[in-house]
Amino acid sequence: MQFSDVLRARVSTRDFLATPVPAASADELLQAALYAPVGMHKYETLHLSVITDKGVLERIRLCAASAIGDAAADPLHGAPLLIVVSSSQQGEIGALNVSCMIQNMLLAATDLGLGNLYVRGAIVEAAKDRALVAAMKVPNGFTPMASVAVGYAREPEAPRTAPKNTVTTIDRV
Ligand SMILES: Cc1cc2nc3c(=O)[nH]c(=O)nc-3n(C[C@H](O)[C@H](O)[C@H](O)COP(=O)(O)O)c2cc1C
Repeated sequence: MQFSDVLRARVSTRDFLATPVPAASADELLQAALYAPVGMHKYETLHLSVITDKGVLERIRLCAASAIGDAAADPLHGAPLLIVVSSSQQGEIGALNVSCMIQNMLLAATDLGLGNLYVRGAIVEAAKDRALVAAMKVPNGFTPMASVAVGYAREPEAPRTAPKNTVTTIDRV
C-alpha cells in the first residue's frame, strides 16, 4: 500500500475474528516498532510482550472487566494477538516513546490488512496485577503502558475518504 493509503485505511477495529495472526505478520509488526523514534535513543527502556496465549489474554480481559464492573466486557474485542509495550521510564517520556511504537505497529498492521486497536485502558488495569505482569514476561522495573490488539476484522472497513477528526484546530504562524 502507498503510505497515504495506509494513513486513510487505519481505523480502530473492535470486533476481531479468532483466526490467528501469522507469525511472519507479527514479526513485521515488531520490526515496525523497532523503527520507531525513541527519546535520547534510550531503546533499552522499552519492552515488547507478544501475547497469543489465550489464558493470559483472558486474564487481561478479566482485569479490565472487573475494573469497569461488567464481567462480560471485552476491551480486547476477541483479538488473538496483543502486543504490550512496557517502559522503565517514569513520566511522560515513557508514554511518549510507547506511543511512537504503538503508532508504528498500528500502521504496519493496516498495511498488512490486519485489524488493529490501540488498547490502553485494559493495560493500565492489568499493570496493577503483579502476577499477570509476570505472566506477560514484563521485566522487573518495567511497567506495561499500552498495547496494540491485532487480528482480522470481522467486517473490515473501507478506507476513509476524510479524517474522522474534524475538530482539532490548526493555526499557521
Ligand atoms: C492514547 C490512546 C489510547 C487509547 N486507548 C483505547 C482503549 O483503551 N480502548 C479502545 O477501545 N480504544 C482506545 N484508543 C483508540 C481511540 O478510541 C481511537 O483511536 C479514536 O476513537 C479514533 O478512532 P479511529 O482509531 O478509528 O480513527 C486509544 C487511542 C489512543 C491514541
